[in-house]
Amino acid sequence: MGKEKSFNKIESEGKNREQFSSRFGLLATAIGSAVGLGNIWRFPYIVGQYGGGAFLVVYLAMVALIGIPIMLVEFVIGREGRRDAINSFRKLAPNKPWFMSGVIGVLAAFFILSFYGVVAGWTLEYIRMSLINGFSGLGSEGMVNHFSVFISHPIKPVITQVLVMAATGIIVSTGVQQGVEKAAKILIPMLVVIMLILNVYAFMLPGGAAGFEFLFKPDFTKLTKEGVLAALGHAFFSLSLGMGIMITYGSYIPSSEKLTSTALNISLADTVLALLSGIAIFPAVFAFGIEPTSGPGLVFISLPNVFAKMSGGYIFGVMFFVLLFLASLTSTISLLEVVVAFLTDQFKVERRRAAVLSTLAITMVGIFASLANGPLNGVKIFGSNIFDFIDNTTANYFLPIAAFISVIYFGWFLDKNIINKQISNGEIEKYKGFINIFMFLIKFVVPIAIVVVFLFQIGQI
Ligand code: PHE
Repeated sequence: MGKEKSFNKIESEGKNREQFSSRFGLLATAIGSAVGLGNIWRFPYIVGQYGGGAFLVVYLAMVALIGIPIMLVEFVIGREGRRDAINSFRKLAPNKPWFMSGVIGVLAAFFILSFYGVVAGWTLEYIRMSLINGFSGLGSEGMVNHFSVFISHPIKPVITQVLVMAATGIIVSTGVQQGVEKAAKILIPMLVVIMLILNVYAFMLPGGAAGFEFLFKPDFTKLTKEGVLAALGHAFFSLSLGMGIMITYGSYIPSSEKLTSTALNISLADTVLALLSGIAIFPAVFAFGIEPTSGPGLVFISLPNVFAKMSGGYIFGVMFFVLLFLASLTSTISLLEVVVAFLTDQFKVERRRAAVLSTLAITMVGIFASLANGPLNGVKIFGSNIFDFIDNTTANYFLPIAAFISVIYFGWFLDKNIINKQISNGEIEKYKGFINIFMFLIKFVVPIAIVVVFLFQIGQI
């Protein structure tokens, strides 16, 4: 990494507002949010389930045609508003209901973090187990057992969740530059290095070729309608869209930065890291005869099994779970930042105080989510336990609705001059063609796609 180019001092409209200190800091922070469990576990698994290479092509199209435009929308709203996810809308459209998009986004961030912190906590247990070599000799059944016994324990997963939340709270309370950005600048390069080492292992694994084939050989006969919808849903989740994260981060981006290339770079990095995860995971899965579509258990049950059997598995296992932990930590940071930015902008509370209060509140809700896997499993909301209820409600309802409101506002109501200014940075002529295509996507393609996925998810199609 050459010499880091620092951004100039805070420009006038951003007065009193923190901003990212450098381009690398900005990219690391936003990539940190985007890269998480979605890339390392979920992406490889759904690629396999929905037709390997064929699904991959569709996913890439979804990222390009829908994900990147929405990210750009969020950046523009945040950078023009220079406020949190709710108040940026309020500033751009006073006395209009568009800020509801931000309200849903902030609520989504709050609730997603409550259970994401629980899952991030599980990775700590897996780091501990890998370090003491606790998985060797457990066997498949022992592995399944260990996972379910751990997550349903009334105290242990709560302890790891509290540890994750405390780390998140401390980092966010320190501020954008000194906390959030600094953490990402250290964690993201670590994550990339670990990922590359894991990739080298994967290439050297005897019997791993079937894994590559599974991941990259397109078989369009396996592509289904569900696959297409899953591709869009995953693009949302993986790029951290619809929960105010990119609006909040957009408000810290200096006016001189090009939002288009920022959104492109982040999406590209997110996609590359997802592919690298697939390359790290599938050769091992195939070499050791694990079911590639084993779902949530893949990372926590199947992989320790693989590590226990392969040579160098001890190191591989430790590195893998450290990687998973780092990836989730940079995501929990971004979720908490959405809530903290709202509290500081709205109520003028001090950042530290806002961070402590929101960490406590989110952790409390999260404890119930954790207990839902054990002692509180019998407590049902609309037929699901608390954990699944929060997970499904936020992902299936909050995110698409929040994103839908913001693209409709952006495409049909936001002042075109603001859009031109934010996207072109003054070079209107150069960006004219791009803006036309972009606006077409935002006015028509993106809203229709969101509605279709939404109706499908709630079972109306
Ligand atoms: N984008 C993250 C991932 O791919 C998930 C995430 C969702 C992070 C929501 C923050 C907020 O895992």
